[in-house]
This record gives sequence, C-alpha cells and structure tokens, in this order.
Amino acid sequence: MKVFVDTAELDEIKEANSWGILDGVTTNPSLIKKAVENRSNVDMKEYIREICRTVEGPISLEVIGLTAEGMVEQAEFLYEEFNPVNDNVVVKIPVNTNSSRSSSGDYEGLKALNKLSGEGIPTNTTLIMKPEQALLAAKAGTQYVSPFAGRIDDFIRSKVGLTRGEDYPKSAYHDSDWLKHSSYINLKDRYDYLEGDDLEDIFSDEEVAEVREKISDAGISSGAEVVASIKQIFSNYDYETEVLAASLRNSRQVREVAEAGTDVATIPFKVMGEMISHHKTEQGIISFSEDVVDEYEGLFG
Ligand code: E4P
Repeated sequence: MKVFVDTAELDEIKEANSWGILDGVTTNPSLIKKAVENRSNVDMKEYIREICRTVEGPISLEVIGLTAEGMVEQAEFLYEEFNPVNDNVVVKIPVNTNSSRSSSGDYEGLKALNKLSGEGIPTNTTLIMKPEQALLAAKAGTQYVSPFAGRIDDFIRSKVGLTRGEDYPKSAYHDSDWLKHSSYINLKDRYDYLEGDDLEDIFSDEEVAEVREKISDAGISSGAEVVASIKQIFSNYDYETEVLAASLRNSRQVREVAEAGTDVATIPFKVMGEMISHHKTEQGIISFSEDVVDEYEGLFG
C-alpha cells in the first residue's frame, strides 16, 4: 500500500518524508488554506514548487472551477506550471460539481476527466462518496479515485442522529456494528435483555429493513466498505485506476482500508502519529531505560 500525507503544510510533508514512508501528497483548497493562514506574504507558486520538490511521488493539486471547460483550463495551468519541477503533478477533479452550484449539471467532472485523459494529464477524482461514482470516473480515464471514508461515516452517523462535535469528535472511530446493535435496541427497548443475540432473527423483515436503511448509505455501512466495494469492482474488470482512500480520521480506519486492499491511503499527519504510538510501547521504553546497567551503558562509550 502506498502512503500519501494528506496535508499542504510543508513542515509536516518534510518531516513525514524524512521517515522514509512517504509515496506522495494530497492537497485540497481547505488544506492549502490551513497551511498558509498563519504565514504572511506567501508566494503560492514557490510554496507549491517546494512541495513538488520535497517528495518524489505524486502531488495532488485541486482545481476550483465548476464547469468542465474551467476545470480543464485550470488543470492545464497546474500541470504546465508545476509538473516541470519534479514530474509528479496529478490534478484533482471533483467527480461532479453539483448541478445546484453550476448551471451545467452533474457531468462536468466526467467531461473534464475524459478531456484530460486524452491530453495525458494524470487525474485524481475527488469527492467520491459511492462506488458507482468511482466506476464512472475510471471509465472516463482517471488514474486515481478518492473515496472520502470519513465523510461517508459522518453522513451515516448523522442519519442515526449523531452529530460531529456534540456526540463524537472528528477523529472518532465509526463502529458500524455498534450502530446496528444500538438501532435494534432503540427499536424495541423492551428487548435490550437480548443484547448479544442475533437481533436480525428476532425482528420482522420490515423492522430489519428499517434498521438497515437507517444505518447505511444505500446499503453501505462505512467509508471503509466503500473502499472495499470499489476495489472489488475494479478487480472484476481489471481497471488500472488506483483506489486512494481519503478523508481518513483515525488509525483504525487506516487499518480497515488497508485490509480492504486500498492501493493508496492518504493520511493526515496527526493520524500518522496515532498509527505509530501505543501506550504499552511507551511503558516498554520507560522500563528498558530504567533497567540499563552501567556495564551495558559502557558499551556505547
Ligand atoms: C484528500 O484528498 C481529501 O481532500 C481529504 O482527505 C479530505 O479529508 P476531510 O474529509 O477530513 O476534509
């Protein structure tokens, strides 16, 4: 699995690159905003050039247009301006730009992908929320599809009335089994003594359907499941498009998308810290350090 860092913060990119684990970088307009808001007089072209120089692998830079024509123009600009630096630019194109935001409908993303594919400009299709979108983007010729695992989890949790910020932090693990179980318990609280039994055998078909609808997004119960489904579809048809799991919020979610066989995981810097740490490792270091005898320490001069 390739590991990208999901940040536009140069210090984070340089640090992660020094660990020897980094295969690429993903940015988006929000990450660029976060990276530059505490700096003054940022020379954006030079800043992006420095990102491209720092890492050998693909650097995703996103367009901001809402029409196919506008996105293609911006993609050509990004590619011509920054690809010469280190031959590693990939342009991020939204899978659709939402007909409520642009007059031209939902197909602008696909049109742009198709055009850029013909021009040989590599693309990463962003804002993928379901496998069907990934299938269309692959057909249109994209190199990467980015399913937004964390935002999919947010949506499913919102359906059961959980709100980010009030009920769970951004980094919270999405436990779809727990959601399913608690939804059954809520359905008939007199049954909560049945905890642990196979609840689907106890409830009627209508009740089971009601719970399934509530805890899923059209039958998908987590962002990691979207990643697994896309992998399955691409492997059915030998598509070369790579799956780039994005919007990852915690270390366990990284594990789940890795288990699902994602080709790439783009991981926030903070989540990389969560991946490497464990309290028993910390305790182990403390006790090993306390047990060092002079004779052993003497070996190292
Ligand atoms: C990366 O390509 C995506 O833009 C990013 O992972 C989105 O993450 P978020 O849902 O935490 O904003």
